[in-house]
Parts: sequence; C-alpha cells; structure tokens
Amino acid sequence: MNLILLGPPGAGKGTQARRLEDTRGLVQLSTGDMLRAMVAEGGPLGQQAKEIMAAGKLMPDELMVEIIGERISKPDVANGFILDGFPRTVAQAESLDAMLADKGLKLHHVIEMRVVDEVLVERVTGRYTCAKCGKGYHDLFEKPKVEGVCDSCGGTEFKRRADDNAETVTTRLSQYHQQTAPILPYYQDHGVLKAVDGMADIDEVTRQIEAILA
Ligand code: AP5
Ligand code: MG
Repeated sequence: MNLILLGPPGAGKGTQARRLEDTRGLVQLSTGDMLRAMVAEGGPLGQQAKEIMAAGKLMPDELMVEIIGERISKPDVANGFILDGFPRTVAQAESLDAMLADKGLKLHHVIEMRVVDEVLVERVTGRYTCAKCGKGYHDLFEKPKVEGVCDSCGGTEFKRRADDNAETVTTRLSQYHQQTAPILPYYQDHGVLKAVDGMADIDEVTRQIEAILA
C-alpha cells in the first residue's frame, strides 16, 4: 500500500509514519530527513539545502522529484511506502503521478492531517529527538519515561532541528498554505483524499489512520 501523509509542519506526519513502519512494514520516505542527511554530508547541495531549510523555504521541485524518483526505484519499497513531506507543490504531485504510472505503481490514499496553526508552533518548538537512534519526543506531549534517557536505546543525548524556532515555523506555515495546500483539491479530484483530526492525541490519530487503511 502506498500512502501520502499530507499536513503542515508539526501536523504529526513523521510521528504517524514511523508507527506505520512498525505496524505495517511500510517504508517511510521523508524528504525532510533525506535533506537533513544531505546537509550532514556537506557539499554544495547540502549547503544549499541548509540555507533554504533554515529560512523555511522550499527546495526546487526538479531536485525533489529526482530524489524521490531514485528512492522509489529501490527494491525495499516493494511492500509499500509512506511519503512524508512530498509532494509539497502541485508540480511535485503531477511529477509523482507520472513517475508512479511509469513504474506501474498506484497511490492508495492521501491522508490530510488537519491541525490549526496556533497548535503547530507549540508542537514544533517543543520537539526534540534522540541523537543516537532518532526517536522523537516533545517537551510537553511525549516525554521519555525516565527524564534524560531515551526509551528506545538508552541514549542520553538529544538534539533539536535548526528550523524548529518560532520565526522559521511561521515561514514554513505560510509556505504550506501558499504552495502545499493547493495539492488538496488536486487529490480530491483524483478521489484519493481522506482527512484525520490531527488535533486529537497521537494514539487517536493512529486509530483514525488505521480506520482509513482497513
Ligand atoms: P520536513 O522535515 O518535512 O518538515 P515539515 O513538513 O515542516 O514537518 P515536520 O517534520 O516539522 O512535522 P511533522 O508533521 O513530521 O510532525 P512530527 O510528527 O515531527 O521538511 C523540512 C524542510 O525541508 C522544509 O521546510 C523544506 O525546506 C524542505 N523540504 C522537505 N521536503 C520538501 C519538498 N518535497 N519540496 C521542497 N522542500 C522540501 O510532530 C511534531 C511534534 O508534535 C513532535 O514533537 C510530536 O511528538 C508532536 N506530536 C505529533 N502528533 C501529535 C499529536 N497528535 N498531539 C500532540 N503532539 C503531537
Ligand atoms: Mg517530519
């Protein structure tokens, strides 16, 4: 099964995609994570990504389409994938359709995660991850069971994303409304769009997604 989780910054795309990896064996394809890996590697493209992401702007469509095209050609996605952070423009959505048709693949569901802007700023600025295994946490909503110790791997170092500050989040939100939200009618017209209440607690959002996939 191939899915898109679509929603603004902090909607819970990554949180839910990781759960679906564990429960359904789908592969999470997060373009944000791919770009952060490029930044960590360095090089001119990594530098470009670093600057654009820090500003909360979008990377060029052609580059993102190329990155995803390569990724969905790999054999590990055969059991299905969850796109998290892609497509982000109508042009990316159209290119994705063309790529999937080319590979004989189908998009089963596009799930919109609905959350109001005010909540998103709090979610994103409170977010952090384990530096060792990447497990995600939140200052208020998802704390480790033992303070300062990762539930998954026992790691004691945590990190925050460079773009998770109030100023950049505001730009990311306006980019979402201007560039990404126009994808919703596109998928509505294709008959694959569903929505979940992203304001509900994390387990309830998972239940709503599972109900769509059932
Ligand atoms: P990306 O990494 O995709 O960031 P984003 O879309 O801004 O989304 P986030 O990762 O911030 O949020 P999320 O929805 O995954 O939320 P999470 O589950 O972590 O992209 C970063 C940048 O890369 C972009 O700005 C752009 O520059 C570039 N980029 C990426 N893809 C691109 C593309 N296709 N084209 C062009 N540029 C691209 O949850 C957030 C927090 O809330 C967590 O702490 C979590 O614990 C908590 N939480 C989650 N769900 C709930 C809930 N239901 N209740 C309470 N708390 C919750
Ligand atoms: Mg994410």
